[in-house]
Amino acid sequence: MRKIKIVNIVGARPNFVKIAPLMKEIRKIAKFRPFLVHTGQHYGHKMSDVFFGDLAICHPDVCLGVGSGSQSEQIAKMMIGLEKVFKKINPDLALVVGDVNSTLAAALVSAKMNITLAHIEAGLRSFDRTMPEEVNRVITDVLSDYLFTTCPDARYNLEREGIAKSKIFLVGNVMIDTLLFFKRKAEKLNIVKTKFNLVPKEYALLTLHRPSNVDEPVVFENILKALKIISRDIPILFPVHPRAQKNIHARKFKKYFLNVMINSKFVLTDSGGIQEETTVLGIPCLTLRKNTERPITITEGTNIITGIEPNMIIREAEKIISGRAKKGGNIKLWDGHASERIVKILNDKL
Ligand code: UD1
Repeated sequence: MRKIKIVNIVGARPNFVKIAPLMKEIRKIAKFRPFLVHTGQHYGHKMSDVFFGDLAICHPDVCLGVGSGSQSEQIAKMMIGLEKVFKKINPDLALVVGDVNSTLAAALVSAKMNITLAHIEAGLRSFDRTMPEEVNRVITDVLSDYLFTTCPDARYNLEREGIAKSKIFLVGNVMIDTLLFFKRKAEKLNIVKTKFNLVPKEYALLTLHRPSNVDEPVVFENILKALKIISRDIPILFPVHPRAQKNIHARKFKKYFLNVMINSKFVLTDSGGIQEETTVLGIPCLTLRKNTERPITITEGTNIITGIEPNMIIREAEKIISGRAKKGGNIKLWDGHASERIVKILNDKL
């Protein structure tokens, strides 16, 4: 029997977290032959290899090794590489996740080669086109044949942009599949004490990597000023992304992130995925951005958008420290089974 060839494209950190449960489910279906292509957008041991090990993702079939560069340079290199790979594999379906440059490059090449395209995490919108990810989301969605969404507002965004209802499937959140799968293992670790000498629930966790925050010296300095004031009341643990690292010359990057997140009192972040993960874990989250493409984490979860003004960041942090943290609830379909639902739909349709 000729197998249905599914080429899965990843490139950056959040992609690895999302593809892990999907690859596992795709492999269970005998008629599917999955391929994994890594563009090499992220390449360092701590930005890439560590995820393949920890999340037990199979070795990529192809690594393009494009590396860092300006966005256009990076996307162009990926497109040239992906076209060659797709010609060789001749896939029936290309599957992309999230909103990074690798997602966009793969979507463009698939569309140009008339390859059916599935986009996981479709329809999220910050409505801020200065964010590189927003451009990637809009274009990837318009080119996709199957659009798998995490929440109802994503469907609303897509329909408003003219995407046919029949292409949209509300399935839940694959990143939460990974989160819930690893939660129990992570809870057993003791690294908060042994590695960082901190007490559970008596520290805050910070992640910061958006160009609009860390590449803008005034914004970055303001945020750091706010953090300095907050850290008088509570220690702040900061695993540093290379983009931020370049700008503050910090030296250490810490792993075991999930355990550290579970044990934190609250999280300060400009990440997209962490807004969702903290909601599922019930941990208060302050998002140091002016907007979010994940509004459900505000209306139903533990997330608060503080903006980037120090006073607002400090005010919201103080509320949490003084015991007045926002409480959230469960989000429908963020239950650890989104990948199963996606692969069942693909199995029925292909
Ligand atoms: C990318 C994604 C962003 C995602 C983030 C997660 C886009 C447009 N942005 O941003 O959505 O939230 O990944 O991390 O795709 N670098 C290293 N080692 C690496 C990779 C990068 O040192 O393995 C450094 C390089 O100096 C590079 C910089 O980090 O220039 C930024 O990397 P890049 O992939 O361009 O963007 P991110 O900020 O990581």
